This record gives sequence, structure tokens and C-alpha cells, in this order.
Amino acid sequence: MEEKVEKTFYVTTPIYYVNDIPHIGHAYTTIIADALARYQRLKGKKVFFLTGTDEHGQKIEKTATEKGITPKELADRVVIRFKELWQRLNITYDYFIRTTEKFHEEGVQKIFQKLLEKGDIYKGTYQGWYCVSEENFLSEDVPLQPEGYKICPDCGRKAVLLEEESYFFRLSAYQKPLLDFYEANPQFVRPQTRMNEVVSFVRQGLKDLSITRTTVKWGIPVPGDPKHTIYVWFDALHNYVTGVGYDWNTELFQTFWPADVHLIGKDILRFHAIFWPAFLMAAGLPLPRTVYGHGWWLKDEAKMSKSKGNVLDPYLILEKVGPDPLRYFLLREIPIGQDGSFSHEGFVHRINSDLANDLGNLVQRTLTMVVNYFNGSLQEIGQEKEEDKKLARLFEETRDRVYALYDDYAINRALEEIWTYLNAVNKYLAECEPWKLAKIPETRPRLARILYQAVCAVRASSYLIYPVMPETAEKIWAFLGEQKKPGEVLTSELNFYDFRPDQKINRPEALFPRIDLKEFIGEMEKPKTEDYKASKLEAKMEYISYDEFKKMDLRVAKVLTAERVPGTNKLLKLQIDLGSEQRQIIAGVADSYAPEELVGKEFIVIANLKPAVIRGIESQGMLLAAEIEGKAIIPFFDREIPPGTKVK
Ligand code: ME8
Ligand code: MG
Repeated sequence: MEEKVEKTFYVTTPIYYVNDIPHIGHAYTTIIADALARYQRLKGKKVFFLTGTDEHGQKIEKTATEKGITPKELADRVVIRFKELWQRLNITYDYFIRTTEKFHEEGVQKIFQKLLEKGDIYKGTYQGWYCVSEENFLSEDVPLQPEGYKICPDCGRKAVLLEEESYFFRLSAYQKPLLDFYEANPQFVRPQTRMNEVVSFVRQGLKDLSITRTTVKWGIPVPGDPKHTIYVWFDALHNYVTGVGYDWNTELFQTFWPADVHLIGKDILRFHAIFWPAFLMAAGLPLPRTVYGHGWWLKDEAKMSKSKGNVLDPYLILEKVGPDPLRYFLLREIPIGQDGSFSHEGFVHRINSDLANDLGNLVQRTLTMVVNYFNGSLQEIGQEKEEDKKLARLFEETRDRVYALYDDYAINRALEEIWTYLNAVNKYLAECEPWKLAKIPETRPRLARILYQAVCAVRASSYLIYPVMPETAEKIWAFLGEQKKPGEVLTSELNFYDFRPDQKINRPEALFPRIDLKEFIGEMEKPKTEDYKASKLEAKMEYISYDEFKKMDLRVAKVLTAERVPGTNKLLKLQIDLGSEQRQIIAGVADSYAPEELVGKEFIVIANLKPAVIRGIESQGMLLAAEIEGKAIIPFFDREIPPGTKVK
């Protein structure tokens, strides 16, 4: 245990749903995780940073159906977008887990089986309301609307009533163990307000949790009872253990589990702070140290979310300013626990004042003076004066505070401290006025000393900035001609004066061009966003020409007789009237229609589909139907039509 605390750090993000491409909210959590991972690596820790995608469940199944593709195809497309965005943002994850990966599915089944044998999972009947958008069961106190349905309190959508056979997790048995655990581990949920919320929720009592579905096909089958699939949250939460070797790499698992911190948005707090530790207790696995529930980024006062369609496009922002300003803004603007409102004005203002002015100008001015006055290399630097010592001391104090804040996940306050220091350096230069001394030959040693102090301050600060703005830190190091990269120097080795005065400095380039607000708003609000999004997701859409479409002979058919195909549950044998001829087709619609229901009905068939033999019977055509949760729904006409009529 001691060993683990000392040497390793395991950080996770939620695994994101693949129902749409990523937005600023997803980028936010992932950037926090990346900053923490980079910081911990600088501390010399062995870090494991896990992110990925949540690919099963009704919501994904539904979105895929709407798009006319399979859930796996949808996931494959969206995963590319996530990975691409993480690359653009310089996210250094160690593994990107997808819940459709075999090792994950098997790990989840293993745990399910184990809990079943232990009696923590049992079979029963579920009756209640379910929100597909949030993949969440509504609590019973949500009121019934006069129209006879319930509204999801989280997203405002209509919930669906479920009644089905289901396996349950014995969550009720964990009320006391959970409360004891929270009490013994007050840092388990952060910030404190979220912990309070969780505790008071659990105190009210916990009901057993339905963790399988028979109406959702797109999920991990229950071992030994495949008509059930495992509830998407039971599946998804276990990514945190399967992703780090559970059941397939014992050494990896023992090195990193339990996680140091699960970073999540407050929207999914209960799943992580209540269900997840209960599942782990049941499985006999150690519990994570901290679940950090951060706030929401709002746009026009509403939570940005894919379901609401009010998201900001991170791709557009990246195109305009690159990764570091976005990383900086999101981490600087709000404390991790609070909500933030993203406005273009706020964004541009911060970039211009903190990055272009405070940091960018400081670096540019300082290094340019070294190049201009000393040809890039400081020689014969004068004695240290009190103000010079003060600048070094102030750095060391800042450094220690910044580390303590990073250790405490208070990234925004760490950045505040760094900027307070940068302003002190700017003030130092303003007071020492090196540009005036440059005109007086006798004061060259003093001039060299002042610039040396400023260069040391810039260099040392770049390390503190590195976890949040890695590209910027590396640029500064390139200007300084350093061989090592900032990520290679440990926090314990960071000292103000670790820079050789005669080290050759290169002429710097501007780090952050100032942004013009009007222009920026114009570019961000281009209708391009939607097109861009569409093109991102539909890039692989294959169009057919009208001529290709015309090859299909679609016709109205009328059912003459219908009977079940013996030995099958799904198939019906239909004799149909196609006007000029009669045919026999085999249709997989028995789940939705009894044979007698179909007699006399009319629908559309493809008449020129090559005949096929199905279960030993020839099928001479195919009827058109929508598929929902594995069931075929046939489109019928709103009036009688002569059989054989062409459809186009
Ligand atoms: O909930 N502000 O996935 P998801 C800040 N698959 N963060 C935001 C945000 C916003 N407006 N919108 C989203 C799921 N996020 C599940 C998780 S984990 C085992 C399964 C971030 O695609 C935030 O981290 O809905 C939030 O918790 C997460 O994205 C939800 O992503
Ligand atoms: Mg969500």
C-alpha cells in the first residue's frame, strides 16, 4: 500500500458515449486528466491514464438505428473523432478503452458471474420508468404526468415504462457499508459539497438495482442467460478495472489499482460514488481513493450536452488558436468543482490578457533583449542585488505552493499562483528598466544580471506551466536552447538558477497572437460548425446514384395467406399477390405480427431481389420493414392500392 502511494498514479476520465462527436465538456474532463497525468509524471511517478468510449446500451442502439447503421459502425466512426480530438489537444492517455473490446466484455461477465454465485446478484422482475437518454432508472418519487407518463428530471425527456424479467444487484445490502466507508474516507468524494449530497442520498435508503435488460440487444450477454444483456452502467463502470488489467494482466492491475482519482462530471456522481464502490465491495476489490465530480460548462445558462444540441465545437476553436489556449482557459477559468459559463468574450479576454500579454510578452521581451543586447548569450553578469534575490525566492515559494495545489487537484489556483509570479517578473523588469541600461556601456554587467534573472524566471515558470500548456513550455525551451524537454525534468529538480548564463538563446517567435474579438466571434458562429460536424460523422456515407436506385423493382404486394415456418420463432411464410403473379416470401416478422393479422394487408416488397433459400424454403422477394430492438415493423399504406403497383 505504501509502495503504491509513493510510486504510481492512476487517473481516469469517464468513458464517453458514442452517440455523437465530442464537445467542449468532454474535452474539459480529459484535459484535467491530462494535466494531472503530466504533473504526476514530472513527480517521477509511474502514471496510468485511462480514457475511452462507452459503446453499448439502448441510447447507442437507438442512435445507430436512426442513422441506419449498426451500433458498432456508429462506435467505430465516433471513436475516430474522439481519438483525433485527443491528439489535437495533446492528450497523453496510456490506453483508450472501448467497451466492445473482448477483454472488457469477458471481464464484466466474470464479475457478473462472481456476484451471481455470491448472491449479490439475483433474478426478479423489474417494473419502473427508464430514461434512455440518461440510461438511468427514474426514482419512484418522480411524479406521473397527467398524460400518464413520467419525465426524466435530469434531461426533461419522456421516460419509458419497463416491465421485464431482470437480474438485480443487491444494492440495499450496501447502505451501511457505504456510509461507513464514506465516514472513514472523507476524501472519497470531492469536492465536499458533493460528498454531502451522496451521503444524504444514501442515508435515505438504497433499493436493489436492476442490472440487466431483455429488450436491449446491444449489450454484453448475461453469462448462461443470453436473452438478458447487462445494463450499460454495470458494463461501463467496470472499464476502470478491465482497462488496467483486471482478469488479463495481474501485474498491471496490481501496480495501478485502486485508482487515485476518477474524474467525472457531476451528472454521473451517483453512479460513481454509490453504485461503483458497492460493485467493488461485492467483488472484493479495493475502492478508488477519490471520485472528483467537476462542474458543468454552460452555454447560455444551460448545460452543454449532445442531447440538447447546444454544444461548442472544440474543433473550430482549435483551428483558430491551437490546443494550449483552450487547455489554459478551461482549467484557469473555474475551480474544478464549480460550473463555468463559456463565452467568446471571456475566452478572448483571457487569451489576450493572460497569454498574449502576461506570458507571451514577457517571454518575447526578455529573450529578444538577450539576443539584441548580448547576441543571445549572457556573459559577465553582475552581482546579485536584493531585488534579484527576491525574484528567485519568490519563485521558490511559488513553486512549492503550485505543487501543493496540483497535488490537491486545484489546478486553477495553481495557475493563479503562476500568473501572480509572472506579474511580479513583469514588474521587476518595469522597475529595473533594462532597455534604459542598454544605452549605458558601464552598466552592462548589471544589464546582464537583470536579463539573467528574467530568463531564469521564464525558464523555471515554464515547468510549472507545462502540465497545462505542454506545447508552450516546449516552445520556450526551444528558444532557450535546452536539450532536455520540460517533461523530462522532475519537479524535485526544478531550481531557479539551473540555467547556464552563457547558454545560447535563440530569437523567440510570438507565442500567442492577440485575438480580435469580432473576428473570433464571426469565425466561431459560422454555420460551418454544423456542416463540419455532419461531415465529421457522415464522412463514410456512401451515396448511390438514382440509376442505381432505379434498379430496384419495388412493388405493392397483398398478403393472401400466412403461416409460421415450423421450428422458428421469427419466420413467416407468406403467399403474396403481385398483380401479374403470385409469389412466396419468407419474412422475419413473427416477433411483431401473428400470421392471421397480416392476411389482406399490403406492403412494399423488392420484387427483383435474387431468390434465396431460407430454412429450406424458397423466398422470392423481400418485404421492407423497420427494425426496432430486433423486431420488424412493417410500413402499411393509408389506403388500398392495386397489388403490383410500382413504388419509387
Ligand atoms: O455519461 N461540462 O458519457 P457522456 C462539463 N458514458 N463536462 C461535461 C459536459 C459539460 N457541459 N458535458 C459532458 C456518460 N461532460 C457515460 C459515462 S463512465 C463509466 C460512463 C463530461 O458522453 C463530463 O465528464 O454523457 C461528464 O461526466 C461526461 O462528459 C459525460 O459524458
Ligand atoms: Mg451525458
